[in-house]
Amino acid sequence: MPNAFESLSTPELEEAVAGLEAKARELRAQGLSLDMARGKPNPEQTALARPMLDVLTSQSDLTDGAAIVDNYGTPEGLPSARRLAAEILGVSEDNVIVSGSSSLNLMHDLVTHAFTNGVGGCEPLCRQGRVKWLCPAPGYDRHFAVTAHLGMENVAVPLRDDGPDMDLVQELVEGDASVKGIWCVPKYSNPTGITYSDEVVRRFASLRPAAPDFRIYWDNAYVVHGFSGVDDELLNIFDALEESGARRLAYEFGSTAKVTFPSSGMAFVAADEQDIAEVREAFAVERVSPEKLSQLAHARFLKDLSGVRSHMERHAAIVAPRFALVEEKLAGGLAGLGIASWTRPHGGYFVSFDGPEGSARRIVSLAAELGVKLTPAGATWPYGKDPRDSNIRIAPTYPSLEDLSCALDVFVLAVKLVSARMALEGRGAQA
Ligand SMILES: Cc1ncc(COP(=O)(O)O)c(C=O)c1O
Repeated sequence: MPNAFESLSTPELEEAVAGLEAKARELRAQGLSLDMARGKPNPEQTALARPMLDVLTSQSDLTDGAAIVDNYGTPEGLPSARRLAAEILGVSEDNVIVSGSSSLNLMHDLVTHAFTNGVGGCEPLCRQGRVKWLCPAPGYDRHFAVTAHLGMENVAVPLRDDGPDMDLVQELVEGDASVKGIWCVPKYSNPTGITYSDEVVRRFASLRPAAPDFRIYWDNAYVVHGFSGVDDELLNIFDALEESGARRLAYEFGSTAKVTFPSSGMAFVAADEQDIAEVREAFAVERVSPEKLSQLAHARFLKDLSGVRSHMERHAAIVAPRFALVEEKLAGGLAGLGIASWTRPHGGYFVSFDGPEGSARRIVSLAAELGVKLTPAGATWPYGKDPRDSNIRIAPTYPSLEDLSCALDVFVLAVKLVSARMALEGRGAQA
């Protein structure tokens, strides 16, 4: 679709820019202070889990099967918490460790373990020289930060509608022994919201890496976070691995951060028998045992997968209108102009937006000037470098509907004004 601003005559374009600038001045005068930067549940959502705080009292039975909750022990997590986590991920509870309140911490711990001690009996990565990590992009900035922080080389791989470009992933993983890992958010991906197709999952399971210490970091953060009534189906990575006869290839992560309370949820990791035994040993050095009171409260509150699903339906009822509003505002303001595209996810926490090439930084900075904070442009790429400078992550869950509506009006105006200015500047350059 042609860029509507580029199709205008120069006087028409100048008039359009002037009109949009006048609207921007009006918005600036309102002194807004709105935030669409990070994927956080809003207070209505966290309130859904408040009854969990009443589950444990001074009178509660603090045993869980044979496990004692109010003392050290059970380093792999309480039996009821492991059962719950295993059900959420669709794996056997023997293959799960529940520990800590943040899955990102567990990912960081395992990358660090690979770095300092090595994986599967291999030399620690810190002694192997150059280490590369594949980063499907657009992706989750905090994943990229973990590997960049340890000096590993983050290599961007295009993320398509059905998952990462698997021809490229296969070529790199099977052809280059310095490739040691890949970050994946296989369901309701952060930020595009896509879910990997069965074929992509099977191709992951069929990888035969050049490096024996290569692992897939399968971050299933949004496994139960559908909000649209159409829940995407993700093929179970461990079932696919079994089918392909591969072992020791993936760590799967999850947490209840966006089920109960961010930073006070319950986090878990699953892996095959040998890998999970190694993870257990590695964790034993850092912690005597995990936060079992929180685990007990979670297991008694959520009970099982069907309890989680019904709780998540209540989240969906709160979140769905926000995503509907994003679609309404973006379609209402930008459809047909040929300057933008965006995703329409069935779940997760984000909408991924693309403006004209070279526009993202300018849009984010103009929106900030008008009082709306967005995720920094480029954050969805390794090292903050979006090669097209076009991608912006929209996080609509935290603001109230009223604030979100206002923030989206500002965003749409910023996209139009930057696009119109760029069309005019392009004309100046041609003259
Ligand atoms: C893909 C992904 N993984 C992990 C996290 C963080 O999860 P946790 O709070 O369990 O560390 C987020 C939070 O936004 C996320 O988007």
